[in-house]
Amino acid sequence: MIHAAPIIRIENLAVEFVDAGAKLHALRGINLSLKANEINGLVGESGSGKTVTAMSIMGLLPRFTAKIVSGSIQFKNESLLSKTEEELRTMRGSKISMVFQEPAKFLNPAFTIGTQIAETVRQHLGMNSAQAKARALELLKRVGLGSDDRVARSFPHELSSGMKQRAMIAIAISCEPELLIADEPTTSLDVTLQAQILGLLKSIKESRRMGMLFISHDLNVVREIADHVSVIYAGTIVESGPRDRLFEKPLHPYTALLLRSIPDPRKKGNKLAAIQGQVLDPKDEPRGCVFAPRCPLAKDRCFTEKPGCREHEPDHASACHYWGETWKL
Ligand SMILES: Nc1ncnc2c1ncn2[C@@H]1O[C@H](COP(=O)(O)OP(=O)(O)OP(=O)(O)O)[C@@H](O)[C@H]1O
Ligand code: SF4
Ligand SMILES: [Mg+2]
Repeated sequence: MIHAAPIIRIENLAVEFVDAGAKLHALRGINLSLKANEINGLVGESGSGKTVTAMSIMGLLPRFTAKIVSGSIQFKNESLLSKTEEELRTMRGSKISMVFQEPAKFLNPAFTIGTQIAETVRQHLGMNSAQAKARALELLKRVGLGSDDRVARSFPHELSSGMKQRAMIAIAISCEPELLIADEPTTSLDVTLQAQILGLLKSIKESRRMGMLFISHDLNVVREIADHVSVIYAGTIVESGPRDRLFEKPLHPYTALLLRSIPDPRKKGNKLAAIQGQVLDPKDEPRGCVFAPRCPLAKDRCFTEKPGCREHEPDHASACHYWGETWKL
């Protein structure tokens, strides 16, 4: 069988922040890869490192407080970490683009949506203003924002959250990127709008064969859209695998407990089975497994020896010394 080469391959990426003199370990050596026409769902609790992963790929980590301590990020054959700011700016929007977690921060309040899309395509595709305007209207239609120019003439504050999210998607796909990063694109939306945005992202991925890193804290959403799932905990990818295998047979205790915490919509009054204990403090540097303080399967070894992330079945890896014992949970 021929395996397609990844569009993006992250190896051993560690990122730290310095905050009031303290060192915060945001990413502790993650590995992640993504192929064309594949959606990799990066799922984890708040603060686990999802947005920092995305910003590292985009080259948008805060310059003065964040530091890439180790690792590499390859986009096809190119090393993103050795690019200049100028080179990264050219790639952003054209080859790699992102739907940001907070639309309000991304959309410029001073310009209409149409102007913002047209400006992006003018810059990256070298279109003249008439072509750029036509392209903006075509993109707004593609994301379901009408066939006339009403939305194109609107300012961000005149749009609902769902419309802003769609407008951001239109900007992100305007130059037909090979990689699209979508950071919690449906979090602020109701269930109906959420389903519409997921359907839209899926159809865009299929029609353009792009790779997509889909970030969410919601396993149900990830199950809906992803082909492959990467579970992140305290800046560490603890499990990654094909979606169906990971949901059917999780190999890491954290994934197993997360899956158990999803409420069953069929059962009335069904409560979330919360995972006991506190998330690891980003200042901590444990010698052993990051999940050990909360793991019901932890043994002495877990507190002194870091488990490597190993493949236990094709394409399905887990970072746990006792990966086969999750069934005991
Ligand atoms: N600009 C920053 N300065 C200091 N620490 C930061 C900064 N951005 C992120 N961090 C820290 O890095 C870690 C990972 O944060 P990140 O934003 O990636 O989490 P996340 O998984 O995206 O969470 P959420 O689901 O809440 O968006 C957290 O401990 C966070 O506090
Ligand atoms: S290595 Fe140990 S503490 Fe970590 S997840 Fe596995 S059993 Fe739990
Ligand atoms: Mg985030």
